[in-house]
Amino acid sequence: MPADTASRHLLGLQSLDAPRIRAFLAAAAPYVRSGLMGEADQPPLASRTVATLFFEDSTRTRSSFAIAAMRLGAHVVDLSTGSSISKGETLTDTSRTVEAMAVDALVVRDEASGAAELIARHVDCCVLNAGDGRHEHPTQGLLDAWTIAEAFARQDEFDLDGLEVGIVGDISGSRVARSDIAALTRLGARVVCIGPPALCPGSLAALGCEVTHDFDAVLPRLDAVQMLRIQLERGSTIASLRDYAEGYQLSEQRADRMKDGAIVMHPGPMNRGVEIASAVADGPRSRILRQVALGVAVRMGALEACIEARERAQ
Ligand code: NCD
Repeated sequence: MPADTASRHLLGLQSLDAPRIRAFLAAAAPYVRSGLMGEADQPPLASRTVATLFFEDSTRTRSSFAIAAMRLGAHVVDLSTGSSISKGETLTDTSRTVEAMAVDALVVRDEASGAAELIARHVDCCVLNAGDGRHEHPTQGLLDAWTIAEAFARQDEFDLDGLEVGIVGDISGSRVARSDIAALTRLGARVVCIGPPALCPGSLAALGCEVTHDFDAVLPRLDAVQMLRIQLERGSTIASLRDYAEGYQLSEQRADRMKDGAIVMHPGPMNRGVEIASAVADGPRSRILRQVALGVAVRMGALEACIEARERAQ
C-alpha cells in the first residue's frame, strides 16, 4: 500500500486526487485569513514536537516549516546539522531514533528521490516531504496552487479551470515542476512546460502537460509563469548561459508581452539575470514574495492536517 493512502503523511502530490489536494489547500485557508498567525486561543499543536531533518541545503523551506510549526504552538527541533548520517547511520535508523524521542512529525529533505517515502514506511509519526531529489516537493506545489488561485480569485473552490500556467526552465531537474504539474492539472489548469530540449524533453508530456521549446510563442497566452533555476547540483547542464538567457530568461521585454493580469512566480532561490531579470522579479507582476508568505500558511495547514489524521487514527 503506498504510504500516501494514510493521510498522516504528505509525501507527494502525484499520488493524490483532486479532493485530497483541495483538502490540503483548504487546511491553509484559516491561516491565510489570519495573516499567518494561529487564531485559536489554544494553539492546535500545543505540546507536539516537529523535527526538521534536512540532508540538503535549504533556507526558505526549512525556516518556513519551522515558523509554521511554531505558529501552531509546536516545539521545533532541527536535527539537520551534526546528524549521525555523516557517521554512516542510515536514513531509517536516524528517523527511528528521532521517533523514539516521541516526535509527532518529521519534515524531511534529501537528495535521493523516494527518501521521504522510505522513512514513512519505517516510522509511526507523520512524515512531510520537503523535497526528495528530482521527485517531489509537495508543499511547494500546494503553495504555488494557492498563489495562482488567489491571484485569480479562485481560492474558494480551488478550481483553476480555464487558466494556463507555464513552467519555464530546468523541468527535468526539478521536483518543484513535478509537484506543480500534479497540483495544477488536478485542479483543472492547463500546464505547459517550456525549456530547451536538454532540460525540457518531450517525454514530460506523460505527466499531463504540454511541452514546447518556444517560450515566445506561448508567453502571450499564459496566465502565470513559474520560472525555475537550473539545478546544476543535480547534474543539469547547459552549453551557454548566454544562449539560455536569450531563449528562456523572463526579461523585461518578455514580461511586457504577457497578458494583462498575468503573474510571475519563482520558487527560489533565484539567479537574477539568468532565468529572470531583476526588474521582473521585483516588478508589478511578481508574486514571488507572496509565494513565500503563502508557504507558511500551507505548511501550517499541512502539519495540522497530518498530525490530526494521525491522532484520530490512534
Ligand atoms: C526548490 C527546491 O529546493 O527544490 N527550492 C525551494 O524549495 N525553495 C527549488 C530549487 O532548489 O531551485
